[in-house]
Amino acid sequence: MAEQGSKQVGVGIIGAGKMGRIHAFNLAKGIPNARLVAVADVVEDSARKLAAEFGVANVFTDYLRLVENREVQAVVISTPTLQKPQIVKFATEVGKHIFCEKPIATTFHDAEQVVKSAQKSPAKFQVGYQRRFDPLHVKVKETIESGEVGSLVLVRSNTRDPLPNQAQWPDLKNSGGIFLDTCTPDYDVVRWFCGSEVNRVEAEGSPRSQPDQHTVITNLSLANGVVAQVDASRMASYGYDVRVEVLGTKGGIFTSPEAAKDIRVLKGSQEGVATYSGYPDRFKDAYRLEMESFVDCILKDADTRTTALDGKAAVEIAAAARKSMQEGKAINLPL
Ligand SMILES: NC(=O)c1ccc[n+]([C@@H]2O[C@H](COP(=O)([O-])OP(=O)(O)OC[C@H]3O[C@@H](n4cnc5c(N)ncnc54)[C@H](O)[C@@H]3O)[C@@H](O)[C@H]2O)c1
Repeated sequence: MAEQGSKQVGVGIIGAGKMGRIHAFNLAKGIPNARLVAVADVVEDSARKLAAEFGVANVFTDYLRLVENREVQAVVISTPTLQKPQIVKFATEVGKHIFCEKPIATTFHDAEQVVKSAQKSPAKFQVGYQRRFDPLHVKVKETIESGEVGSLVLVRSNTRDPLPNQAQWPDLKNSGGIFLDTCTPDYDVVRWFCGSEVNRVEAEGSPRSQPDQHTVITNLSLANGVVAQVDASRMASYGYDVRVEVLGTKGGIFTSPEAAKDIRVLKGSQEGVATYSGYPDRFKDAYRLEMESFVDCILKDADTRTTALDGKAAVEIAAAARKSMQEGKAINLPL
């Protein structure tokens, strides 16, 4: 396993795109116990630019060389999802700690392989479900646990992305589609809030006839009797919108205070409406906190908060949701 002697963990980033840059910034500027020591990207220019921005000397186009580098104790995998399982496999074989962006794989079968790889290695594995570190989501979870709203009855979670232009539309093969790419963080929130596993999934999407959908709804039943609903869309003209609602026997929790009082109409052109432009500003603190926690787990030999099994559970729900939409019937879990 990777050395843990020094006080700083040497981290290498594989995939120097949008998320790679967010993690590079936090590792280089926001986490004293970490040191960004290497960057790899198949596009050399992308790797070079990110490395230059943070003064990193080790630049690679082949991730194998980054993983083998002696200065690298932990890797952050922020490549498209299709590439993740093979990178996880190699990094675990070499004994490096892994922070893997969500979702861990594009298929349930590959997610099971990721779990196998992670379980074979004594090194740490954390999946990037940063909502478990987001101060607002953490407050909801703590309020649920305090018993203030009684026993849970219903959980709702949504992710609505701003209308993308054609060039930004996620590639289906690399991303796995909207259920996997957009909804898995909500599925993870549902499992986390409920403290229970999903045992039945029913989903609908539009347009159903296309390989990928712009808007989907998933109804979920959990083993403890709670029901949940997740919706996702790439058509939110008013900005990036992530919200949760929790209904308990003694009250409800709403992450948007206005929602409890009145309806509010938001439009793209409206001025003075404080919405987020995207995940980088909505989850700025959560991205730093999840990486800080990953580095602390390595230094203190503690368990990570979002495990490979959490990663697999979310992929399994997404696979069931797509199957449900395609076959027009509810799907029971486990698959
Ligand atoms: N946690 C979140 O909130 C969040 C938000 C957005 C994206 N993501 C996830 O982060 C991951 C990356 O997304 P992104 O938006 O940064 O994508 P991106 O396209 O901006 O970046 C991906 C980078 O990986 C590189 N790459 C591809 N294959 C590679 C390989 N084999 N080795 C090294 N580099 C390789 C590409 O050249 C590209 O630069 C995705 O899995 C996505 O689901 C997470």
